[in-house]
Amino acid sequence: MTSPDASSRLLVRDLAQAVTAASPDAPLRGADLGRVDVVEDAYVLCEGGRIGEVGRMAELGSLGGDVEEIDGRGLCALPGLVDCHTHACFAGDRAAEFELRARGAGYEELHAAGGGILSTVEATRAAGEDRLREAVRRHREWMLHAGTTTFEAKSGYGLDRETELASLRAIKDEGGFPTWLGAHAVPPEYDGADEYLDFALAEVLPEAAGLAEAADVFLERGAFDRDQARRYLEACRSAGLALRLHGDQFSEQGAIPLAVDLGARSVDHLEATGHDGVRALAESDVVGVLLPVAALVLGRPMPPARALVEAGAAVALATDFNPGSAFCESLPIVSSLACTQLGLSPGEALGAMTVNAAHVLGRANRIGRLAPGYDADLVLLAATDWRHLAYHLGGEVVGAVVRSGRLEWQR
Ligand code: NIG
Ligand code: FE
Repeated sequence: MTSPDASSRLLVRDLAQAVTAASPDAPLRGADLGRVDVVEDAYVLCEGGRIGEVGRMAELGSLGGDVEEIDGRGLCALPGLVDCHTHACFAGDRAAEFELRARGAGYEELHAAGGGILSTVEATRAAGEDRLREAVRRHREWMLHAGTTTFEAKSGYGLDRETELASLRAIKDEGGFPTWLGAHAVPPEYDGADEYLDFALAEVLPEAAGLAEAADVFLERGAFDRDQARRYLEACRSAGLALRLHGDQFSEQGAIPLAVDLGARSVDHLEATGHDGVRALAESDVVGVLLPVAALVLGRPMPPARALVEAGAAVALATDFNPGSAFCESLPIVSSLACTQLGLSPGEALGAMTVNAAHVLGRANRIGRLAPGYDADLVLLAATDWRHLAYHLGGEVVGAVVRSGRLEWQR
């Protein structure tokens, strides 16, 4: 991706509103999560790929020299959305499994019978690196059209050396933040999780550590247990990777205490988290990443979002985009679910998918806010009230997207 030259300027003028999380802190907790700054009748000036000014039209001074302009009438500017948890690197689909589940089959049973994640592993191994790169590009475009300007994506559908490394390269080449999900499932050629981890840590980690920013593990019955997750994460931490966990999706297996003990960036899912887990997360620096689409699609209880926020935990929201539990790339839909299913306000949802999601990726100093000095990544909502982001369930609410100070897509 090319970066704009230092002198390029873009003025988005006559916006109905420009909106961003109010508190300068990251991560946002408690009452700060829901506080938003709303500037009415606003402009945003981007300079050299960064945000230069955000203000009221009445206060816009005269700008000499070349300035490209976007007419913002009827639009609201928000920070570009940050999707901090996706599985966007995969081949094939699971439409047939979707039908089986619609007819009553269980997600965990399908996985135990060698379907589910392992059927995507088969398709992903067969695809080859070029087709994987094309898949990530296609998925990245879908995300962009839904307002996502920064995305994380995990490997985890290769589970062999070649395909795991190819996945991480494809994600990186397409502008994503790569996470090595080397412990997603035990592939069929291994007798058990310990034997598979012997291979993954010896043969894949050394090179994966040079490509990925973080490591992730699926800590769950039928996947990896607490000791195996600890072994995997400690090795990844020693190799310089930040740590994430898929935890408490179907059952509590100690993911939160492990995440806290290891100083993980996040523990993601939390549909099965009880009171003790809520308290432990609130007292820690670990972010709880909530994935309401996966809970909805699999008919699971929603994560205890309200209790987490009230207790002072830092929460982020993400799509979990993947071919099985969450074939949905839309953070606006996640924001609707946050408000209707998780008990969050539109402002809390916005903070959770901008500032707090950026914090999970270690980039809260550069992305997630409409404020001078931040990357000029903007969503221009096709609405005069920014709350349409959550209010318009499944609607075509994103009118245009600016990335690094350039108009990247327009409906
Ligand atoms: O986050 N639970 C583990 N992994 C993914 C689903 C992967 C799949 O079904 O392909 C998740 O939900
Ligand atoms: Fe996931």
